[in-house]
Amino acid sequence: MLAIQKIRLDFPILNQKVNNKPLIYLDNAATSQKPKVVIDAIETYYKTINSNVHRGVHTLSQLATDAYEQTRNKLQNYFNAKHTHEIIFTRGTTESINLVASSFTSLLNKNDEVIISALEHHSNIVPWQLLCERTGAILRVIPMNEKGELVLDSYKKLLNKNTKIVAVSHVSNALGTINPIKEIIDLAHQYDAAVLIDGAQAVPHMQVDFQALDCDFYCASAHKMYGPTGIGFLYGKEKWLHKLPPYHGGGEMIKEVTFEKTTYADLPHKFEAGTPNIAAGIAFGTAIEYLEKIGVSNIATYENELLHYATQEILKVEDVTIYGTSENKASVLSFNIKNIHPFDIGSIVDKLGIAVRTGHHCTQPIMQFFKIPGTVRASFSFYNTKEEITLFIEAVKRAKRMLS
Ligand code: ALA
Repeated sequence: MLAIQKIRLDFPILNQKVNNKPLIYLDNAATSQKPKVVIDAIETYYKTINSNVHRGVHTLSQLATDAYEQTRNKLQNYFNAKHTHEIIFTRGTTESINLVASSFTSLLNKNDEVIISALEHHSNIVPWQLLCERTGAILRVIPMNEKGELVLDSYKKLLNKNTKIVAVSHVSNALGTINPIKEIIDLAHQYDAAVLIDGAQAVPHMQVDFQALDCDFYCASAHKMYGPTGIGFLYGKEKWLHKLPPYHGGGEMIKEVTFEKTTYADLPHKFEAGTPNIAAGIAFGTAIEYLEKIGVSNIATYENELLHYATQEILKVEDVTIYGTSENKASVLSFNIKNIHPFDIGSIVDKLGIAVRTGHHCTQPIMQFFKIPGTVRASFSFYNTKEEITLFIEAVKRAKRMLS
């Protein structure tokens, strides 16, 4: 059992009023709030050891490098990567996906095939479209059904000897569907295709084991797992990271530079040009420790209770349609009320201190599938309570009365 009221004290932002009402923050899929230990880690870095990493012999630089590299070790352990150098720091999930899609240019030929799914965020669509434009490869899309689940029979038919990479989200940001990624990975491997998993929406809610999944790449952002913005990671199997050329060129990613030729640094630095977001990287490690302390299986159990309660209660509101009705969902409730624009509901509940996201959630193809402009999306975290959800449902009912 999680001691929610005690946990909430760890998050200073939750103890405030917005629009003169106690804040109810239900936009966790967009970004999670930060515990004080994470905020303190950023401040402590700047107050005590601020200096550049991997560069100086001086003491502060070494301390900063050690603290920054400790996060890489933590990520390796937390996600069970085989090697520390398989963790590449990036600015976040979007950059991680772009890194792989960009570097794959050298590995693809005309008429090779790339598979994504109907459930992807734009950040796991557009980089692959750009890759296909550069190489003449063909983009294929795994369809979904009315529940917002991927149709695996269609996926099996899409796979063939030309498939070079499959890129699929672990959890849909718009609908909350948890995709059967182990099966997706194993099927792709029968054709020697690489698999990239966009894990941005999964890592805050469940334990992920890279070696057990056998994924080739896994991408996520710190800010959705209680860490700072501007830092995330790409996990890549060593063999793939050796195969791929660098993404960005610059300082730190080189072994030797002459005007004739440059040789590249060993992993992971080959993919880490320029001064990174050091403070955020260090605080990301603190966020991982915080998550470990709460326990991700406790989080999953509690958030499932919240999701079930919210689903049951919203269905009592007349004229509601829920989008994403799979049995396997994580912490996202996406819905509309007949003849009311989601933006209007979002604006009214905001006046009541409640933060939700409205719109297409950077997943326009999902909205096109359901023939809607967008949804109201409430997304839950372990610091939310049933009482907050009750107030949210009341606010939705009030908005409905005002707008009908
Ligand atoms: N991708 C984030 C969301 O779903 C920003 O809201």
